[in-house]
Amino acid sequence: MTTLANSRPTLISAPLRPTVPDGVHPVAPAALMPLYQVPAGCAATYEEIADCPACVLAKTRSRTVPGSGPAPCDLMLIGEAPGQREDELGLPFVGRSGQFLDELLASIDRTRTDVYVTNVVKCRPPANRDPNPKEIAACGDYLDRQIALVAPRVIATLGRFSMAKWFPAERISQIHGRAVQRDGRWIVPMYHPAAALRDGSLRAVIKQDFAQLPSLLAGTV
Ligand code: URA
Repeated sequence: MTTLANSRPTLISAPLRPTVPDGVHPVAPAALMPLYQVPAGCAATYEEIADCPACVLAKTRSRTVPGSGPAPCDLMLIGEAPGQREDELGLPFVGRSGQFLDELLASIDRTRTDVYVTNVVKCRPPANRDPNPKEIAACGDYLDRQIALVAPRVIATLGRFSMAKWFPAERISQIHGRAVQRDGRWIVPMYHPAAALRDGSLRAVIKQDFAQLPSLLAGTV
């Protein structure tokens, strides 16, 4: 199956967003092009992120990965941190976990162009180590601004780092899939798609948790 995450690369001729200070744009698959569009209200925040010097990750990143998708948007997904492919392309979830994420979105009749996707930290931690509290705090204001701009009805947190923003003392194995209302919107903690790549039995669990998103989005819950 051709998905946004695995389609073939072509050269992008013009920079569509300031992912690097010198304006050089990465080589990205043509199917990913729509994801480079910057929602009007997000331009200033994306530019600030592109030059962000606030933590040590600025020294090792190739590109910042602010987020993708429209704003406002009813559904927002928040992952952990960019990996290698994301750091190359400046887009979230375009590696192996992204392929599974595409599948999950398809299962609820959505595509990457109609959800807003971002991460707790906007730069890749070296060797994909966990982001540390200083790095998460350095990006905290960006995430808060994105939530305000996107104004989602539902936020799905993917993995324990984004879950900890709302549920710092909980365990993901205990609360995944349980939607909770905070500040007038639903927060739904979910396993990270990469967890399902490590443990295949979690694929069905994540799919089941995703399956409740349409009713939350429709306001029928
Ligand atoms: N994992 C994440 O949490 N975010 C990405 O963007 C890619 C992989």
